[in-house]
Order: sequence, then structure tokens, then C-alpha cells
Amino acid sequence: MSAAPDTLDAMLETAEEGARRSGQILRERLGRQRTIEYKGGIDLVTDADKASEKELLAFILGRHPAHAVLAEESGVTQGGSYRWLVDPLDGTTNYAHRLPIFSVSVAVEGPEGVVVGVVYDPMRDELFRAAKGRGAFLNGEPIRPSAVSAMDQALLCTGFPADVRENPAAPLGLFTRIIQQAQGVRRLGSAALDLAYVASGRFDGFFEFRLKPWDIGAGALICQEAGAVATRIDGAPFDVAVGDILAVTPGLAKELAAQCAAFVQQIGWTPVRRLAR
Ligand code: IPD
Ligand code: CA
Ligand code: CA
Repeated sequence: MSAAPDTLDAMLETAEEGARRSGQILRERLGRQRTIEYKGGIDLVTDADKASEKELLAFILGRHPAHAVLAEESGVTQGGSYRWLVDPLDGTTNYAHRLPIFSVSVAVEGPEGVVVGVVYDPMRDELFRAAKGRGAFLNGEPIRPSAVSAMDQALLCTGFPADVRENPAAPLGLFTRIIQQAQGVRRLGSAALDLAYVASGRFDGFFEFRLKPWDIGAGALICQEAGAVATRIDGAPFDVAVGDILAVTPGLAKELAAQCAAFVQQIGWTPVRRLAR
């Protein structure tokens, strides 16, 4: 494999091809016997996570040997102007139960923030992608968020972090508040896919606490490039190292952002930057 240039086009091509290769591994292994290890509490990893990540990292570093990576299962390397944020299987609890809702998430972070994002759903063969300043696409077609502008017409989505039993206040408190106003609040189990669904108008908004850069890097860029609003949970500008996130369609942004901001102020939330460059 020859090294690829540091252009948006080349990095996007790598992210797409890598995500498809990993996705194929996940799809092929879904029905098979799997090995499940517990990383602590309810957080788990399967042999498929590891096989998918191995394939993805080998492909990325084969094409971009000077770049750094931050990958969920193998950790972090330093150096280079670009860092790849890799979640080889987002939705691993679903996967372990053979529930076919999961994705591969690949983003590239440059000095000025995330510049490339790909979220691939191998079960539906849906590939969401974006590059900074160039729009967002689903299987090559441009996507945009929904036109919903009222909470009681909004289908929203959230998720709960692996430490929800130990620290339930923020995730359960905001969920309780929002479920009483929205048309519905789903919990699909793949944050990367949840964000891609806001970008493409399937959800009208998404909020979650304590996600990691590899969960949100790609999905947040896809939202922003599609025309949705992706910010920190308190409404401050998006920061991939702060995993407390809100993504929402423009017509609902003011209202949902106000709800989230009021809630985090009430609980005395302060931002924590995790795994920053
Ligand atoms: C998880 C999923 C889930 C979210 C969790 C994440 P994983 O990632 O994105 O939707 O609620 O907080 O940890 O562990 O399946 O890669
Ligand atoms: Ca994840
Ligand atoms: Ca994962």
C-alpha cells in the first residue's frame, strides 16, 4: 500500500474504505459465536471490536503512516498534524445481543478541529460522510436535518454512559426532563449513528453525557456539514474532547439548547476535557 497525501479527499477516501472493510468484518461475524470480555461494570468488548479495529488501524496507518490515532480498544499514539479518531464498533452492547443497530465511526482531527467524518452502518449499507466545508452525504446523496420546530413534534434520541449506575444524575435527570416535552425519546445504542440520524432528519435532536472523541468526532462534523447545530451540552461551541453533547435541527435549536443549558446549570455541570490532543 502506498502512502496517501494529507488532502481532505485522500483522508476521506481512507476513512470510507476503512469503515467499509471494518463493517464487513462486523457483518460477517454478527451471527457467529462471540467472545465477550467485561472492561469493568457493564462496559464490554467483543472479539469483533478487536478484529474490526485491527483491520481499520492497519489500513489507516498503511495509507497515512505519519498520522496519530486515538482508537477505543488500542489507545493513543502521538505525532503528526492529524489524529484519527476510531471507534471500530459503536453499539457493542447491541452487537453482543445480535441487535443489528451499530456502526463504525472514523474521524480525522487536524489542528483546527475535526475535518473528516465517516459513520458506516454495515447492516443497512448506509455510509454517512462529511469533510469540513464540503457538506454531508448519505451514500453519495446530500443530507439535511428535519424541519421540525416544536418539542411536542420532535423525535429525539439520547444514550446512557457505561457508568450510569455510579453517576446517574446528569443522564437520567436530563432524560426525565426532556421525555415530558418531546413526542418521543429513543435510545438506539450507537451515538455515532444517532448523530448521523440527526444530520439526515430521522431524529430531530440528540443529547448525551460522557461520550468519547471516537464516539462523536465523525457524527458531529456530519451534523454541522448537513446544517444541524452541534454544540457542547451547555450550548458552547463543539469541542470533540468534551463528550457532553447536543445536536439538534435548526428549528428546534433554541428551545432544546435552552432546556439543556438550564438543566446543566441546575446540576452545577462543568466541562471535562477527555483525551484531548
Ligand atoms: C457506546 C454507544 C452508546 C452510548 C455509550 C457509548 P460503544 O459506545 O455509543 O450509544 O450510549 O455511551 O459508550 O461502547 O458501543 O462503542
Ligand atoms: Ca462508542
Ligand atoms: Ca466501541
